[in-house]
Amino acid sequence: MSNDNKSIHEFDVNLICEYFAGMERQGPGSPEVTIDAIGFIDNLTDESRIADLGCGTGGQTMILAQHAPGVITGIDLFPAFIDLFNANAAKHNLQNRVKGIVGSMDALSFQDEELDLIWSEGAIYNIGFERGLNEWRRFLKKGGYVAVTEASWFTEERPEEIDRFWVEAYPEIDTIPNKVAQLQKAGYIPVATFILPENCWTEHFYAPQVAAQEAFLNKYPGNKTAEELVAYQRQEAKLYDKYKAFYGYVFYIGKKI
Ligand SMILES: C[S@@+](CC[C@H](N)C(=O)[O-])C[C@H]1O[C@@H](n2cnc3c(N)ncnc32)[C@H](O)[C@@H]1O
Repeated sequence: MSNDNKSIHEFDVNLICEYFAGMERQGPGSPEVTIDAIGFIDNLTDESRIADLGCGTGGQTMILAQHAPGVITGIDLFPAFIDLFNANAAKHNLQNRVKGIVGSMDALSFQDEELDLIWSEGAIYNIGFERGLNEWRRFLKKGGYVAVTEASWFTEERPEEIDRFWVEAYPEIDTIPNKVAQLQKAGYIPVATFILPENCWTEHFYAPQVAAQEAFLNKYPGNKTAEELVAYQRQEAKLYDKYKAFYGYVFYIGKKI
């Protein structure tokens, strides 16, 4: 990849939303992994208050709601995702326990110590792992949990091409032990850490995009933004295939001390 390649953040936001809105998930993950992560959370009841930050259209939220008790608020910056999220909740008959609202993870309106669990799959990077963990902590009750997925290096060293790609896309990417240390330093007991299996990227994230990419390009012929977006996603998928031994998403689960 050349240094002058555009970062995804520079593409037109509405087009990105449209591209991802048709997918079950907007980031790597799977129902199995969400369920595995829920297995580490031991304090939930019907009265529990849960937030899913950067919830997207709610693929993981509906799984969470089906496998854990409590009331869930999904928060995402983009109204189009929240509309689909609430339609998704109704489709699963979860509208009494699951509600999506538009908001930003850096300006949350929860009360201090209101929440039992903060969930966030593939989204904390938007404000940064350390910042998110530090800022969200006050909203958790003592003994409450944070459960997030985050891009992480599997090795101390890696090939230059993938190192450069990630340092441009997300400079906070780091090794698992360093991320665990950040979790601990932010005031959480590191309860569990596990690497998401490959199929979270291949089967659940990149494969559904293949057909959608063709349809998207046909809908916006000659549109440079659409072409660049698809090219970027294809490049990302190729890099994953080539360098998946060196990085991936990791679930970090912490308990507020
Ligand atoms: C990679 S997607 C992950 C979506 C979903 N959690 C999943 O795993 O399928 C990241 C999400 O974060 C949302 N987002 C970006 N910046 C945000 C912010 N400041 N506050 C809340 N959500 C944000 C995006 O709209 C997007 O839905």
